[in-house]
Amino acid sequence: MSFVGNLEVLKNEVINEEVFALTLEAHEADIKAGQFYNFKTSDIVYPLLRRPISVALVEDGKIIFYIQKKGTGTQLLSNLKAGDEVNVIGPLGNGFDFTGIKKPLVVGGGIGVAPMMEAARQLKESGHEAVKVLLGYREEPYGIDVFEKITSDIAIASERAEGYHKGYVTALLEEVLDAAVYDGVFVCGPHVMLKAVAAICKAKGVKSHLLMEEKMACGIGACLVCTCKIQKEGESDFKNLRTCKEGPVFPGEEVLFDE
Ligand SMILES: Cc1cc2nc3c(=O)[nH]c(=O)nc-3n(C[C@H](O)[C@H](O)[C@H](O)COP(=O)(O)OP(=O)(O)OC[C@H]3O[C@@H](n4cnc5c(N)ncnc54)[C@H](O)[C@@H]3O)c2cc1C
Ligand code: FES
Repeated sequence: MSFVGNLEVLKNEVINEEVFALTLEAHEADIKAGQFYNFKTSDIVYPLLRRPISVALVEDGKIIFYIQKKGTGTQLLSNLKAGDEVNVIGPLGNGFDFTGIKKPLVVGGGIGVAPMMEAARQLKESGHEAVKVLLGYREEPYGIDVFEKITSDIAIASERAEGYHKGYVTALLEEVLDAAVYDGVFVCGPHVMLKAVAAICKAKGVKSHLLMEEKMACGIGACLVCTCKIQKEGESDFKNLRTCKEGPVFPGEEVLFDE
C-alpha cells in the first residue's frame, strides 16, 4: 500500500549546479530499489501534476532523493528547506526484482545514477559482496562517496571530466561483459543509454532490467501518457504498458524503442 501524505524535509543538500539531494523523514514502508514517489510541488493549482522521483537511498528513518533541476516542478522542490513538509505518494511502481540473481551488474547514467545507489545497497544487504557498479556522467561525477560506502568495485566514465574513463559508460559495459559472466544488468539512465545497454546485453546474452524514466502525467495509471511498447517473449505483437503501473522497470529484451 502506498503512503499518501506529508513528510518532513530533514535536509536539502546542493550536490552540484543541477542536482540536489532531498532527505525526507521515512514512513512505514517496504521500499524496493527502483520504486518512485510522486511529489506535489506546489500548494497552488500550478504545477498541477505531481513529479515522479526515484528513491535514491533508504537509511535509518530517512528516504533520500537526488533530483535534477529541469523545469518549474523540480525548481520548486529545490527550494524546500529542513522543517518544511512535502506531500508525496509512494512507493509506486514495481522496482527491481533481484530474485535468483547470483552475479549482478549495476549501471547508472546521469541522474539515473541516483536509483542505482539503493539498488547496490539492497544487493549488498542481500549478501552480494563487492557489487560491480558502472557509472556514466557527462561532466564531473556525483554520488561516488555513496557508492564507495557500499562497494569497492566501481568504474566511472565521463564525457568531459578528467581522471575517468573518457566517453560513455556503455564502452565500460562492453569491456566488463566480455571479461566476466553476469546474470543480470540493472540499469537506469537517459533513453539513448538504456537503448544502447539493452542492445549490448541482448547481443551478449545477458538479461537487462531497465528503469524507464518516461514522461508522466497522472502517475496513477489513468492517462496512458507514460506507456512503453513491450513485446513479451513468444508474443506476436507488442502491448502499450504504463511506466507508472506496470513499470518503471521492464526487461530490456522486451522493450521496443522508438527509432
Ligand atoms: C519513474 C521515474 C523516476 C524518476 N526519477 C527521477 C530522479 O530520481 N531524479 C530526477 O531528477 N528526475 C527523475 N525523474 C524525472 C523527473 O520526474 C522529471 O525531470 C520531472 O518530472 C520534470 O519536472 P519539471 O516540472 O521540473 O520539468 P518540466 O519539463 O517543466 O515538466 C513538465 C511536465 O513533463 C513531465 N516530465 C518532464 N520530464 C520528465 C521525465 N524525464 N520523466 C517524467 N516526467 C517528466 C513532468 O512531470 C511534467 O508533467 C523520474 C521520472 C520517472 C518517470
Ligand atoms: S502517467 Fe498517467 S498512466 Fe502513467
